[in-house]
Amino acid sequence: MSTVDAFYNPFAPGFTENPYDQYDLLRAADPVHRSPLGIWVLFRYGDVAAFLRDPSLSVDDRNAKPTVLDEMAREVLGDGDAGSETMLMRDPPDHTRLRRLVSKAFTPRTIERLSDRIQTLVDEHLDACAGAATVDLITSLAFPLPFRVISEMLGMPDTDTDQLREWSGLLVRSLEPVADPDLLRAIAAAGAAMEALVTEVIEWKRANPADDLLSAMIAAEEHGDVLSDTELAAQVALLYLAGHETTVNLIGNGMLALMRHDAERRRLHADPALDANAVEEFLRYDPPVQMSRRITLRDTEVDGRVIEEGSFVLLVLGSANRDPEQFGPTASRLDIGRADANQHLAFGGGVHYCLGAALARLEGRLAISSLLRRYPDVELAAAPEWNGRINLRGLARLPVTLG
Ligand code: HEM
Repeated sequence: MSTVDAFYNPFAPGFTENPYDQYDLLRAADPVHRSPLGIWVLFRYGDVAAFLRDPSLSVDDRNAKPTVLDEMAREVLGDGDAGSETMLMRDPPDHTRLRRLVSKAFTPRTIERLSDRIQTLVDEHLDACAGAATVDLITSLAFPLPFRVISEMLGMPDTDTDQLREWSGLLVRSLEPVADPDLLRAIAAAGAAMEALVTEVIEWKRANPADDLLSAMIAAEEHGDVLSDTELAAQVALLYLAGHETTVNLIGNGMLALMRHDAERRRLHADPALDANAVEEFLRYDPPVQMSRRITLRDTEVDGRVIEEGSFVLLVLGSANRDPEQFGPTASRLDIGRADANQHLAFGGGVHYCLGAALARLEGRLAISSLLRRYPDVELAAAPEWNGRINLRGLARLPVTLG
């Protein structure tokens, strides 16, 4: 039981618009929290960082005792295991093998070489906005940019973007608590559709290999006996999804934060030397991924409370990033010059530290700085619309006037 009346309720009205008040309350009152859903939730920076980096913890759901929500999902859907073969949900040595296959494509040096191509794409998208009275920054830049970049890196054929966006938007909800049977069914259907699409794309690519990441992964599967068919499909789906469903929120949430803080917007416009640090601060202030997870393999004591073996533990990155114990009394404020902004936990930590961090940082920096330099007076044209997600929380629409 919780030691206070407050409890973690991501289904509370208004939570996706602003989860931070609830985080503040729980971080102060019950930072090692057992929610009524039977899930442990950690809110403090120190605890979250320690769990992320602890190699004795697991990410494999098979090690967790089912929670109330798991039981419900099983009742609605039967035994499914969405995403369980991705590196995100595998422990070493499988994790090490799967990550090694693609890690070379994501090193900071390899990613830096994509800089000119990404800048060209940013410029094209901004050109297309010229002259419009108002534009939705999500559909005109924040979504299509990372989507094009990861599609080109992988070498995906052209697909029906709207359909794919709908599936991937549903699929990423498997990374958050879901208590609605209809939503569970929709997620499962989107998972099946995505799996069929990825399998088809892999077959097509086998017949049409090129100089791209997907061909390299297929070659590894064919020649080295290092990864099975289902593992290959799972990694492709993960990269495809993680490549765009996260960075869209960095660009969207970052631009919203800037437009809501006029002095910071003018400060960034005046000083390009702040571009990179501003991206760190956006990642800290309103992170694109609100939580990660670990599973205990033995009873684990945190702050005098015992988290039992086999517990599913949510690590709330969005709360850790605003912990005054770490970031001081100004933790809740946007400060693009913050000296330790890059200490945020937006990319997780330990062996699962985000593989795409260098790519996301580059895309975020080029998109936001180019937009601001070209349209310094950009401002909100109407209230933004949130996407209703608890974890990959971001904007569905961000209407602006470019000035
Ligand atoms: C701003 C954008 C992004 C954010 C905030 C983000 C955040 C995260 C987080 C929190 C994790 C889990 C880390 C952990 O539990 O320790 C993760 C893992 C991962 N991310 Fe990202 N991500 C972003 C962009 C990307 C991009 C562009 C890609 C590349 C295609 C990517 C690929 C991955 C992969 C493959 C993993 C699993 C790594 C592993 O398990 O070893 N991410 N990311």
